[in-house]
Amino acid sequence: MTKDIVVELDHASIRIGGRTVLADASFAIQSGEFIGVLGPNGAGKTTLMRSILGLLPPSGGGLRVFGHTPHCGDRSIGYLPQLRTVLPDLRVRGLDFIGASLHGDRWGIPRLSHSERHMIEETLEAVGARELATRPLSQMSGGERQRLLLAQALIGEPKLLLLDEPLISLDARHQEVAIEVVRRVCRERGITVMFSAHELNQLLPAIDRVLYLGNGQAVLGNVDEVVTAPVLSRLYGAEIEVIRAGGHIFVMSHGSDVERTDHAHGHGHDHEHGHGHSGHDHGHHH
Ligand SMILES: Nc1ncnc2c1ncn2[C@@H]1O[C@H](COP(=O)(O)OP(=O)(O)OP(=O)(O)O)[C@@H](O)[C@H]1O
Ligand SMILES: [Mg+2]
Repeated sequence: MTKDIVVELDHASIRIGGRTVLADASFAIQSGEFIGVLGPNGAGKTTLMRSILGLLPPSGGGLRVFGHTPHCGDRSIGYLPQLRTVLPDLRVRGLDFIGASLHGDRWGIPRLSHSERHMIEETLEAVGARELATRPLSQMSGGERQRLLLAQALIGEPKLLLLDEPLISLDARHQEVAIEVVRRVCRERGITVMFSAHELNQLLPAIDRVLYLGNGQAVLGNVDEVVTAPVLSRLYGAEIEVIRAGGHIFVMSHGSDVERTDHAHGHGHDHEHGHGHSGHDHGHHH
């Protein structure tokens, strides 16, 4: 393989809880790409990211990240998990919240070195959240906390960023801003991004390619190649119609927009995380 491939699945199968989430999947993500990760609820977006983090080895085939078998605690990967079940102490200020993850413990306020402090402030600045450093979490809106978590995922200068549904709980305008921030920061720093979402349209201006999951399969390619009736019908296991209008793409099944109906009952299942693997519940891991 070449040096420019960041994530490579080679006939990989991923199984969890007796269920095959991906079967014989092959694709390669190139360095610096911004990949939109899409697919219906349960398609395997989160599970794939956890495999890339080294939390769940493939049951067959190859999975390589930066040319190696992924291992937990790889500092070259930044992670914003979908399920943020462990609540931090809300009295803590933004700076100390990120500082705590830097020190690998979430209890107590760490004593930050001068350079650590500087690095955190710089990262907050990069995501347009400089003023969150001195504000307690209790006084931040949901969107502001989301931005803080994004900064946290960027700490430690990752080369690969896995953002699992970072747009949840943001309104349309803030979703747009969040996508733009990620795109700009990652371009500047040469970071490869996997960004999962339920809505394709907002991602369209930002993404280089799309990774669509469904029905145990994964298809990576340009939007025009992947977001088509034949490919999506295969991935959804249902007859899908793709309608393009005014620069938007609507993915329809039996006359209703699958992205919207999907979204309505999404994000409910949070039984999986929360305890076990310390450090993975809030941004960057150790
Ligand atoms: N810990 C687990 N034990 C058993 N099954 C699991 C576990 N985690 C996920 N699954 C199952 O694996 C499949 C893929 O789940 P995953 O969370 O990766 O989907 P997703 O694409 O992220 O969905 P969503 O859009 O709802 O976030 C689902 O069928 C889910 O029920
Ligand atoms: Mg998910």
